[in-house]
Amino acid sequence: MVKKEFCKLEELEGKAPEIFGVSTGTKLDQLFWKIEKEKNKIVKKPLGGIPYLSVMNITGIPDSGKSLFAEQFAITQANEGYKVLFVTVESPANFLYTSFKTKAEYLKVDFSKVVNNVIVIDASAKEEFRENPKALMDTMAEAIKEYHTTNVVIDSITGLYEHKEMMARQIVRKFFNFLKKWKQTGLFVSQKRSAQAAETAEAAGGLAVAHIVDGTIVMDKKLIENKWEENLYRLPVGSTLRTIRIDGCRLTGHDTKPWIFEISPAGTIDILTPLEKFIRRK
Ligand SMILES: Nc1ncnc2c1ncn2[C@@H]1O[C@H](COP(=O)(O)OP(=O)(O)OP(=O)(O)O)[C@@H](O)[C@H]1O
Ligand SMILES: [Mg+2]
Repeated sequence: MVKKEFCKLEELEGKAPEIFGVSTGTKLDQLFWKIEKEKNKIVKKPLGGIPYLSVMNITGIPDSGKSLFAEQFAITQANEGYKVLFVTVESPANFLYTSFKTKAEYLKVDFSKVVNNVIVIDASAKEEFRENPKALMDTMAEAIKEYHTTNVVIDSITGLYEHKEMMARQIVRKFFNFLKKWKQTGLFVSQKRSAQAAETAEAAGGLAVAHIVDGTIVMDKKLIENKWEENLYRLPVGSTLRTIRIDGCRLTGHDTKPWIFEISPAGTIDILTPLEKFIRRK
């Protein structure tokens, strides 16, 4: 029998994924929300993470904190007992170990859980994985099946279309569909080209990643360069102001303000206050 290609909305009820948050270990978890009905009143409740089964794009200029954020997400999930498949495209896998260990200690997380629950694929050392999406996805599928992972991080997806940005859309779409097929919640880190405005969702390959994924988080850093900025931000010339912002998310409501964050000595992210509040601080 030929499968029908259409259905009534009501037939989708059983297939609709539950809406809940997958914790990133940062205050961003409170910036996504869901709407619930409570005694005839509509209330807004924090989701507690990025939406379950979403694929989120983390974009920003170099050194804006994307990798730190991705690692903190992996550590947090591992600590909660969930398996994370971490595909490293930029940084060789052996550097990850020390980086995860330092962060886990600082966050007071049980490192034995992290080493047990984080599964690493090193695409930085293997050209075939970077050049041939199918080869990488076959290996990812093997890892997902063997370890029953529920989360995937690709740092960075840009590294998978480095010399072929015209293919960005196709490649991102393949990995996006792959994560959906395997029911994974995911983070795709994507890098900006120098011509792209720092505060936008645009990244290498244009807006390919932003259009395809379920949502985008923009990380940015600003160097205080002159007297005007010094007065506005009340930070000395030469200091760095870091911000994070949810640029969009199709799956749930969310805060849209830029928030100030700091990087701890261990390389963890601490989201502090909305930028507008920071500027008006006493
Ligand atoms: N342990 C640490 N302590 C303090 N700062 C750190 C630590 N680790 C990294 N940083 C700083 O954090 C910043 C963000 O680093 P991160 O590696 O996350 O950047 P990124 O956005 O992934 O950049 P890229 O696009 O180049 O990969 C850098 O400026 C780096 O110097
Ligand atoms: Mg990085």
